[in-house]
Amino acid sequence: MTPPPNDPTPTGAIPLIPQPDHGHVSHEVPKERVVAKLPTPAEDPQWYRTAVFYEVLLHSFFDSNDDGTGDFEGLRQKLDYLAWLGVDALWIPPFYPSPMADGGYDIADYTSVDPRYGGMEDFNRLVEEAHDRGIRIVIDMVMNHTSDQHPWFQASRNDPTGPYGDFYVWRDRPSEYLDARIIFIDTEDSNWSYDEVRGQYYWHRFFSHQPDLNFENPAVREAIKNVLRYWADTGVDGFRLDAIPYLYEQDGTNCENLPPTHDFISELRQMVDEEYPGTVLIAEANQPPHEVVAYFGTDAEPECHICFHFPIMPKIFAALREETSRGVREAFAATPPLPKGGQWGTFLRNHDELTLEMVTEEERQAMYGWYAPEPRMRSNVGIRRRLMPLLRGSRREVELAHALLLSFPGSPFLYYGDEIGMGDDIWLDDRNGVRTPMQWDSSEGAGFSKADPKDFYLPLVSSGSYAPAAVNVAEHRKRPTSMLNWLRSMLEVRKRYPVFGIGSLTLLSTSDDAVLAFLRRDERQTVLCVNNLSTTSRSATIQLPGMGGWHLYDTASGNRFPDVREDETVDITLGRHGFYWLDVTFLDNEEDEDNQ
Ligand code: GLC
Repeated sequence: MTPPPNDPTPTGAIPLIPQPDHGHVSHEVPKERVVAKLPTPAEDPQWYRTAVFYEVLLHSFFDSNDDGTGDFEGLRQKLDYLAWLGVDALWIPPFYPSPMADGGYDIADYTSVDPRYGGMEDFNRLVEEAHDRGIRIVIDMVMNHTSDQHPWFQASRNDPTGPYGDFYVWRDRPSEYLDARIIFIDTEDSNWSYDEVRGQYYWHRFFSHQPDLNFENPAVREAIKNVLRYWADTGVDGFRLDAIPYLYEQDGTNCENLPPTHDFISELRQMVDEEYPGTVLIAEANQPPHEVVAYFGTDAEPECHICFHFPIMPKIFAALREETSRGVREAFAATPPLPKGGQWGTFLRNHDELTLEMVTEEERQAMYGWYAPEPRMRSNVGIRRRLMPLLRGSRREVELAHALLLSFPGSPFLYYGDEIGMGDDIWLDDRNGVRTPMQWDSSEGAGFSKADPKDFYLPLVSSGSYAPAAVNVAEHRKRPTSMLNWLRSMLEVRKRYPVFGIGSLTLLSTSDDAVLAFLRRDERQTVLCVNNLSTTSRSATIQLPGMGGWHLYDTASGNRFPDVREDETVDITLGRHGFYWLDVTFLDNEEDEDNQ
């Protein structure tokens, strides 16, 4: 067979040179999942680039002591489930002592575990046993602000000239930084609040009970570094850095993404690289693409390993309603290249509202119209609903959304409960409607807890078609065609194709705008992803420059599809919301085997 000509891909990132001995995966589908011994982050510093993350809310996952609140021991007992599902890393939101006025993001003590979740020994055991199962642990680090109950704030307000007097941003008058937007517009009308005790105003970007720390103060920077050290010493594999664009303020700016903020993140990275090599920093920077990308830093001064890709997420939802690939293509076109080792974190949903801060007013109104027709469904600048009800209970749409999530460049972050299509409760306050207890089985407490359900930290979803009797893990596990089993098999495919994590992206021309086609490729693997964003079946001609005569195999089944034609096109027919991930190779199976 004649090797195809060199690189026709528009990005030119990966040359199309065939690999004769071919680290190429076989098209045979393996029968067993193999869990390798987990190398330490230092031994495998790139682990985060092929990992699938799973965000798990401790208080809502599994209650081991029947007090109605999930805990570390409960999560530990469910590690086998998470390993079975095939996730590589858990992201655990804040579990520190907290008045829980912001779901734990209001921290009252950085260096202990809130007793409702257990103690340090439970935390340590979780980390160890997760590692035994090949699962890494990422914890949340909220450095922009603390709870007003934190002893630092109490000291600061009571003793302005004492050691903590300058730990927060105090002013006599609320006259500075007025160009900074208000983030929690549902509850706050200013970023300044008056403190009666100190007789001054303090600065806060979120709730008024969450005063911002003063990063101009070197003692604050040192204290925060020590908090990171404290937790890194427990062996965690990474930190999600919460709300990092807001660390510093400067009059006359919007007080976001300021140079000293980047300097501090890069200092943190240096510390982590030196003292805890391989530990990963993940940026929560809800910003437009060129601002987000700045949180990767540069090759010379790296900052975070992963940044959440906030701009692409709403485009996925919009694409499903507009039935066109245009928005997604534009979002990728606006996504700057990443420095070496940088990785996007992609997601569909998380514990917050589906944020619409980074879209235009027109797009926002369209999203509200499609996805949040009732005011109760909205929260701040976003939508507080879970994935399955958002996508009108359509299994096909939810599958397609996952197919996009898992095949787009980046490391996907799943949200607990979405693997079984859990529902939400828009009548709960704030964002609690998407934080309800995990539904393990159809029993009274949904298998979450044996406490009286009225004592649960948050109530179970009770609406008929989403209630535990209808939606639960036990039922999904039993049923081979369930969403859970489907997702598990998708994760299994993704594991065999590290190219999804590390490969380049090339958008392809198709004859139908509703069909989004792209290649993911690296030196070893090439996968053609074809997605029908529309509610009707489609047949599209896809251009595959330089791949005339190449073969296509379905990654899930190993089944062969018609070859790419010599004119470098292929026709793909898809049912409504259908998709394929096709392994593209110039070798066929038999030659593959000969070569192994
Ligand atoms: C982050 C968290 C969110 C929290 C906010 C303020 O955006 O994801 O849940 O409310 O920070 O701490």
